[in-house]
Amino acid sequence: MHPLPITDSTRVLVLTGAGVSAESGIATFRAGGGLWESHSVEEVASMAGFQSDPQLVWNFYSERRRGVLAAEPNAGHYALAKLEERLGDRFLLTTQNVDGLHSRAGSSRVLELHGNVCMTRCLVCARAPFSDEALHLDSLPACEVCEASGRDSLLRPHIVWFGEALDGQVLARIDDFISEAGADLLFLAIGTQGAVYPAASLVDVARRVGGSSYLVNLDEADNASQFDHIVRGKSGEVLPQLFGLSSEQSN
Ligand code: APR
Repeated sequence: MHPLPITDSTRVLVLTGAGVSAESGIATFRAGGGLWESHSVEEVASMAGFQSDPQLVWNFYSERRRGVLAAEPNAGHYALAKLEERLGDRFLLTTQNVDGLHSRAGSSRVLELHGNVCMTRCLVCARAPFSDEALHLDSLPACEVCEASGRDSLLRPHIVWFGEALDGQVLARIDDFISEAGADLLFLAIGTQGAVYPAASLVDVARRVGGSSYLVNLDEADNASQFDHIVRGKSGEVLPQLFGLSSEQSN
C-alpha cells in the first residue's frame, strides 16, 4: 500500500467514527450486533428519551462508560497520534467517537463532535462539563451546584444526542482549517458509515475547496462514492502503512 501523498504544504483533516475503536473492543453502531441493533436510538440517545426514563439513559451510558474505561487505544489511534506529531498544526482530528481513546493514545489536536462518555454536565445550570467516571446504574445523579442554590436538577451525559446541535465553535474550527488549506487539504475519513450529518458531509466540503479525499473503512460506506480514494480494511492494520510508519514506530 502506498503511503498518503503528504508534502510540506499538505494539511490533513481526519474524521474518525466507531470503526477506529472497533479493534479496541468497543461496539460500533450499525454493523451486525451494533449498539443500535439492541437499543432504540430514541429511547437512549435523545432528550425526549432522557426525560421519559432518565435511569434507562444513565444505565445505557454507564455501561458504555464501563466499556470505555476498560478499553485501550489500538494501533490505529497510535498511528494518528504519530501523524499529528509529524505534521503539527497542519493536522486536525475530528471524531464522532465519545470514547476519548484518541487523547489516551497521545493525540492533542482532537475535536469531539459528539461529546465524551466520561464527561457529565448539568441539565440546567451553566457549570462546565466535567470528567466523571462514576457508573450511575441504580441512582440518578443530581447537580450539587443547583442543590446549593435550592434548585433540583439532574446531571446528564455530556453527549450530543440526536436532534441536538453540535458545538458551533467546533464546527467553526473545522471550517477554518478547511478554508485555510484549500487545495492543499487532504481529507481522511476512517471507520465511519457516513450515515450521520453534518460529519458525513465533510467530504463534500473538502472537494469544494479542491482538496483530495480518502476513506479507510471495513465495509462499504453510505457516502463512499464521494471519495477520491477508498482503502477497505481494518484501520489498526491500514493506518500505520498509510502513514509510512515503520513497525517500530507503529506501537
Ligand atoms: N477498521 C475500519 N473500519 C471499521 C472497522 C475497523 N476495524 N470496524 C468497523 N468499521 C467500519 C464499519 O464498516 C462501519 O462502516 O466502521 C463503520 C462504523 O459505522 P457506524 O457503526 O455507523 O459508526 P459511525 O459512522 O461512527 O456512526 C456515526 O452515528 O449513532 C451515531 O453518534 C453516533 O457517532 C455516531 C454516529
